[in-house]
Amino acid sequence: MWEYTEKVKEFFLKPKNIGEIENPDAVGEVGSIICGDALRLTLKIDKETNKIVDAKFQTFGCASAIASSSAMTEIIKGKTLDEAMQMTNQDIAEFLGGLPQEKMHCSVMGKEALEAAIGNYRGIPVVVEEEGKVVCKCFNVTEEKIRKVAIENHLTTVDEITDYTKAGGGCGECRSEIESILSDIWSMKAPEKPAKPKKLTNLQKIALIQEVIEREIRPGLQADGGDIELIDIDGNKVVIALRGMCTGCVMADVTVKGVEEKLRELVSEEIVVETQ
Ligand code: FES
Repeated sequence: MWEYTEKVKEFFLKPKNIGEIENPDAVGEVGSIICGDALRLTLKIDKETNKIVDAKFQTFGCASAIASSSAMTEIIKGKTLDEAMQMTNQDIAEFLGGLPQEKMHCSVMGKEALEAAIGNYRGIPVVVEEEGKVVCKCFNVTEEKIRKVAIENHLTTVDEITDYTKAGGGCGECRSEIESILSDIWSMKAPEKPAKPKKLTNLQKIALIQEVIEREIRPGLQADGGDIELIDIDGNKVVIALRGMCTGCVMADVTVKGVEEKLRELVSEEIVVETQ
């Protein structure tokens, strides 16, 4: 039996915002009933303010899926689209006072439905899962999703990936490939990273930012058909532009956050990354 918090029980037994908005401005659908979980999110959006004025969901899933979907709608209502996109799957879990580790994939599904709905509203085709290489055939999980969830949630083991995405939790054939993806993601962190000097002059800082972008960030983006251009550095503010496949991608916010985390790790904890 799973240990659920009182809030999970409350949001499962009396879910808020269940149903479907008539004539919605945005629709996001993720998961599939075949794989065990599916979520459909509909939004009403104020076009003047870009605020989410109403959100409703329909889900096929367990108690955690219902509670997570309901919590997600409560979190995003009243927020602008940009504010809502800042919500992480961890925010959904925290709103509920925590989720069993094995059920974290429900919070991930909530975040994905929001991304899909906002992508739908903005006319950006959702390519998050459908066009990526499928690693886990049992649960139709792509490499892109595994990478995204691992980075966002700092996951380092295959079991954690299973908890957050279900990948690897069926026949197990994909587990070695997931292991390779994880090594690929995190191997960059250990060896050969430039040491962060204690105190940098402005010139040293600019040079190090350029070096980190060239050595640690650009190759990964280029491997996925994207690219990054350094536009300006003003003190701790680093202005970049995403290029290639990264342009207009629904994952752009995550990419920018990843760039910022890498620069904070290797250059200065005060770095703030903005896009042009
Ligand atoms: S292919 Fe991933 S668990 Fe079966």
